Amino acid sequence: MLRFITCGSVDDGKSTLIGRLLYDTRSLHADQLATLEADSQRIGTQACGLDFALLVDGLAAEREQAITIDVAYRHFSTPRRRFIVVDTPGHEQYTRNMVTGATTADAAVLLVDARLGMTVQTHRHACLMALVGIRHVLLAVNKMDTMGWSQEAFARIEREGRAALQALGIAEPACVPLSALHGDNVVSPSGAAPWYAGPSLLEWLETVQVDGDRERLPFRLPVQAVSRPHAGFRGYAGTIASGSVRPGDPVCVLPSGVQSKVARIVTHAGDLPAAVAGQAVTLTLESEIDVGRGDLLCDPGRRPAVADQAEATLVWMHEAPLLPGRAYLARIGTRTMSCTITGLKHRIDVATGGQLAARTLELNDIGVATLAFGEPVAFDPYAENRATGSLVLIDRFSNDTVGAGTLHFALRRSQNVHWQFLDVDKGQRAAQKAQRPRVLWFTGLSGAGKSTIANLVERKLHAMGRHTYLLDGDNVRHGLNRDLGFRDADRVENIRRVAEVAKLMTDAGLIVLVSFISPFRSERRMARELFPEGEFIEVFVDTTLAEAERRDTKGLYAKARRGELANFTGIDSPYEVPERPELRIDTATTSAEAAADLVIERLGA
Ligand code: ADX
Repeated sequence: MLRFITCGSVDDGKSTLIGRLLYDTRSLHADQLATLEADSQRIGTQACGLDFALLVDGLAAEREQAITIDVAYRHFSTPRRRFIVVDTPGHEQYTRNMVTGATTADAAVLLVDARLGMTVQTHRHACLMALVGIRHVLLAVNKMDTMGWSQEAFARIEREGRAALQALGIAEPACVPLSALHGDNVVSPSGAAPWYAGPSLLEWLETVQVDGDRERLPFRLPVQAVSRPHAGFRGYAGTIASGSVRPGDPVCVLPSGVQSKVARIVTHAGDLPAAVAGQAVTLTLESEIDVGRGDLLCDPGRRPAVADQAEATLVWMHEAPLLPGRAYLARIGTRTMSCTITGLKHRIDVATGGQLAARTLELNDIGVATLAFGEPVAFDPYAENRATGSLVLIDRFSNDTVGAGTLHFALRRSQNVHWQFLDVDKGQRAAQKAQRPRVLWFTGLSGAGKSTIANLVERKLHAMGRHTYLLDGDNVRHGLNRDLGFRDADRVENIRRVAEVAKLMTDAGLIVLVSFISPFRSERRMARELFPEGEFIEVFVDTTLAEAERRDTKGLYAKARRGELANFTGIDSPYEVPERPELRIDTATTSAEAAADLVIERLGA
């Protein structure tokens, strides 16, 4: 069985090639054939004969109605092998779909239009294939008929293509001149290119040796669900990602590290004496230990890394660029946790494979980054185990998949830095001050009145004998955050740092007032999640843009309007209004004095 992915656009002839392959291997049902013949006559673009593009595009249209399916799998077989074609639908090649499809494929067919040669798109596809660990790639140089089957033209593309693929670590790329439209060199060899002695596309697919033997890798089972149908049964369900398992085998639960032995392998069809990669099973263990969804069951003799920091190659898949410092969600196996990009090492120039300096990744960019997870997670280097070495990044608000990545290794610093236990703790520090630590987080436009109100609140609290500290945006930007400007990435880092400082200050037992524009929901939420329930109080100082601009106490709005100040909040940089602040102060109807009293009342201090 060979799973292969086809990369290329409709214009390269991808649909025609897949259609041709299905047709020439007699893999179409009678009704599909009849529809194809009728459609070809009615709306086909080929004067005589069948328009194979209609076949695949027809299937694609059906699929597009079920929009959740973004990768199509088509089966066909020859006497020598069974095949699954992984195809990503749509007229555009969406990187996201391609990565999804490619992670399960053993080989790739990269389409090149003979008239255009290797394009940036072809290089990008090659790069993605190498990234996801595909080691067998065939360059299908299509539309050779339009080039009069020029040996010279083919040789040029072959030279460039081979060099590019070899630079990416694909040792022996194949290169076939073909015409999907006329069927030359697709299934059977063609007389059109007497100078070509290599295999046809199908021959290559039938004979390529793939090493994808996941069963020989160490045992890994990401736990998808804990099954407790009744008090006497407790099983852990999931699909075996790699390796094999038998009753009696020792297993280790990660990240906790607790060990046990496999008691039974339960399936709907009864207990099994053994199970291997790809099988969905439920394991029961000999001892009652704590295992939950997201844990990884593995061979204790050959363990994956467990770490909360790692290096990875990332493919960015979203229109909004990556913001280092922002808290995304990462999914590794069945575990989902918070994830921040702590550093971008470089971006990869897909056309040359070179490294470029980067502050961010834009749509379709590929780069190498260091990541920090909200909790320790078990993983293998992708190069050793594709199933347990990949990750997906998700936006916390929209739930969109924004990126995908392959893990390289755990960062050593995360393993060499341990949490130091201290004798005097937050509770004792707070008790000494006879107060409950809190964060009063003031957010709003520049000039909304945050600092004025926060200042009044601190004065009142101070007079009441409370221990406080006010972190003000302008002031913190004079010191700790002097290196940050006002681009999105800088604001994200600005808030990350001040939130961490506020956390240290609550740990010191203080009531902390934070007065920062903090324009993004995502970062305000990240800040909130650093604190225990009830400790973080978000105060939205609500002043309309028109009113803030009318006051313009610092003259900054006027400057921004004159074009002398870029990325000004409310003018050419967004302010995302809080959805559920603990307190909203309408400054049009509430004086600063009254607002301060409201805050103190809310604090219950
Ligand atoms: S935040 O967006 O990153 O939270 P922060 O509160 O630290 O902003 O700083 C905002 C203050 O910086 C404003 O009160 C204003 O005085 C000043 N400032 C200078 N340039 C800008 C700008 N482009 N956008 C917003 N505020 C700016």
